[in-house]
Amino acid sequence: MSTLATEERLVARIHRLKEDRQAVILAHNYQVGEIQDVADFLGDSLELSQKAALTDAKVIVFCGVHFMAETAAILCPDQTVLLPDLSAGCGMSDMISAKELRALKAEHPDAVVVCYVNSSAEVKAESDICCTSSNAVNVVRSIPEDREIIFVPDQYLGDYVTRQTGRKMILFNGYCPTHFRIMTSDLQAAKAEHPDALVLAHPECTPEVSAMADQVLSTSGICLESQKSEKTEVIVASELGILHRLQKENPEKEFIPACKWCDCAHMKVNNLEKLLWSLEEMQYPIEVEPLIRERAKNAIDRMLEISK
Ligand code: 13P
Ligand code: SF4
Repeated sequence: MSTLATEERLVARIHRLKEDRQAVILAHNYQVGEIQDVADFLGDSLELSQKAALTDAKVIVFCGVHFMAETAAILCPDQTVLLPDLSAGCGMSDMISAKELRALKAEHPDAVVVCYVNSSAEVKAESDICCTSSNAVNVVRSIPEDREIIFVPDQYLGDYVTRQTGRKMILFNGYCPTHFRIMTSDLQAAKAEHPDALVLAHPECTPEVSAMADQVLSTSGICLESQKSEKTEVIVASELGILHRLQKENPEKEFIPACKWCDCAHMKVNNLEKLLWSLEEMQYPIEVEPLIRERAKNAIDRMLEISK
């Protein structure tokens, strides 16, 4: 049987089982193309947590990484949240533990803690408010001027927010190992080859790379801006999975990755077979211990409240 026919059969079985299970499939913009195409909703971290918070589906299959499924589980304790492969972690999220955050808080006891959603439930539970790449600037602006701010774990997103808001913050030294691979020399070369191209970067890029972009946006922000722009060439400084959505939504435009190695192995562990198996076997359910869940939910709810 051809690969296409196999894929069609898998997709048909996923759709059938999804109905039987009363499930919804949420997928992040960095997932492989075939997962993006079968998903009910495709989006950035904020959009996916907003969808999770609103859906009445009995089962949420989260095609993304662990912290995203965990955020959905925190928001939807009465629904089953499945992650098709438990090895889908996040290099940045693993860089900070709740213990390390508690130590930082002890040094700055009056600081407000802003935590990027790319973090564990335990770290969220130690935080006052969460943010994503699309609302981090607004979240920080919502904090009274006279309050000190601890921002964890992404130092580059934190740096970007400081440049946008003028707020000095205490930054943790985490970063995304995937976006870190994008070098200014890569971007320089892409710009030299495509001098008229629009340059869009994700705020997890280093400050030097972000400074070379026309705009710094979340993954869905990159998709929206690419559609809005009259430019026919777009250089994208972000994870490669986003190119599938960009090319599908803008077939007449050319998308140039700033770096060919910006591939998140965690995002890429999901595939159609694992998604089908996840629905068949109801694997792997993501659950959060109630005491942690309650405290982490407060931080996520505060973020969702100001992002309506
Ligand atoms: P977005 O919130 O922009 O989708 O980014 C999530 C992420 O993990 C990027 O590396
Ligand atoms: Fe984590 Fe970076 Fe992968 Fe996003 S791209 S999931 S921040 S490792």
